[in-house]
Amino acid sequence: MAKLKIYTFPDLVLSQKASPIAKVDAAYRKLADDMLETMYDAPGVGLAANQVGLLERIIVVDTDYDYEELEEGATPPEGAELLGGGIVTGKNPRVIINPEIILREGKVMSREGCLSVPEYSAEIERAEKIKVQYLDLDGLTRTLSAEGLLSFCIQHEMDHLQGKVFVEYLSQLKQTRVRARLAKQLRKSA
Ligand code: NI
Repeated sequence: MAKLKIYTFPDLVLSQKASPIAKVDAAYRKLADDMLETMYDAPGVGLAANQVGLLERIIVVDTDYDYEELEEGATPPEGAELLGGGIVTGKNPRVIINPEIILREGKVMSREGCLSVPEYSAEIERAEKIKVQYLDLDGLTRTLSAEGLLSFCIQHEMDHLQGKVFVEYLSQLKQTRVRARLAKQLRKSA
């Protein structure tokens, strides 16, 4: 497995549409592994291919795991899985290829962040419940009904595949502020 580079807003790759995957093969199983490792390491609850610079319709999601930072110098429990200076437990990784929402129900506000928009969160409107049809890593067609965090997360990641970042739901003024802040962070880290 390898950790991938996460592209940040407003990189061009985040505003482009991803293409459907024609055949799920070993290359995508490797990509999914790498995307999951990158997501857990961040840590985040979802990652879309656009965010690692690839324009293909694949997302990874896990809204179930716990992440606990380790105190400096502390000894982790035996057998603990370490990632990015913390312990990960209760993983439930999902790999979702060529997703299509076939049912939406209700509307609620969701507070969201994004690994491509570091240190920022905002409330936006999402469907409360969704049903998604997709391909799994064996290339089989599956459906998934989701609500709450999992539902918001899948909608957020599917937006990425459409070339849309969640801050683009906000007012122009707020978007300008986010862009200015990210440009400043980028200059600092350069
Ligand atoms: Ni995101």
